[in-house]
Amino acid sequence: MKKISVQPRPEADEENSFLRDVITGLSAQPKWMAAKHFYDAEGSRLFERIMRLPEYYPTRSEMQALRENAAEIAALIPDGAALVEFGAGSNAKIRLLLKAAPQIAAYVPVDISAEYLEEQAQEMRRDFPNLKILPVAADFTKRFELQLSVRAMPRAGFFPGSTIGNFEPLAAVGFLRNAARILGEGAPLIIGVDLVKDERVLNAAYNDAQGVTAAFNLNLLARINREAGADFDLSSFEHRAFFNAGRERMEMYLVSRKKQTVTVGGRPFEFERGETIHTENSYKYTREGFRDLARQAGWIEHALWTDPAGNFSVRALKTKS
Ligand code: AVJ
Repeated sequence: MKKISVQPRPEADEENSFLRDVITGLSAQPKWMAAKHFYDAEGSRLFERIMRLPEYYPTRSEMQALRENAAEIAALIPDGAALVEFGAGSNAKIRLLLKAAPQIAAYVPVDISAEYLEEQAQEMRRDFPNLKILPVAADFTKRFELQLSVRAMPRAGFFPGSTIGNFEPLAAVGFLRNAARILGEGAPLIIGVDLVKDERVLNAAYNDAQGVTAAFNLNLLARINREAGADFDLSSFEHRAFFNAGRERMEMYLVSRKKQTVTVGGRPFEFERGETIHTENSYKYTREGFRDLARQAGWIEHALWTDPAGNFSVRALKTKS
């Protein structure tokens, strides 16, 4: 008999690993979930609303830093370069950079969501007809490879939004090492890093008056219900976010309002009243703190820009050679 081998679809793979992560996180003590799981279609929409909130300064501050220093940033990108973006969430930022740096020949967004990538690629092909758009569907927190055609071009990296803040510092060093390997010797990496600041500003940014951040946090439970066959009652959990000054990070939790049992894929999970699921860390760095971290991963900080208020930093890193 002939054996038929069935290749799992990448989407099926993704679903399985989501369910695995849910079971692992909810079985742990204390319970937790990786922040990357916020971004299903609804979560991405909610994050777009967060970026427009009056309290959420990072997006505006970073845009300002990019806009006011676009020429200097663009000058660091080699002629005919492929610009590799880690994650593909920030339409406005990439457009700003591409307009300032017409020498860029190709745009290479790397994102876990193949669907989102394709949508974004379509728009970019329409708006930048002379640019090669070469998306890579991959989890950039893991090891991945660029296409041969991209490896033949000079490269530059772009990692905006302080997404690096979601990594534990050790994992951030790991990511930066991986980025250095992928981009190759001499390539610049333009990276956005949120800065340590007044706690009141930080706490307000993650506890907005309209409750959009709360909805973003709670959507994680809605996603688990949809994709992992769970029965979370969203009204019996609440959003909590605060700055942990000792560890220089924002922490987000979902807090159970009562003692309850939730079923996920047929398995029961007990919650005490007040018990938490840790859903996100968002590390903030000092100017020197991130410079030192990058150095541990083999990068030298070539330049640092901020918005006028000094809320957010954009840095140009280059590999030591
Ligand atoms: C996308 C990780 C940079 O940490 O500020 C926004 C995500 N969480 N509000 C951040 C987020 C709550 C955001 N990052």
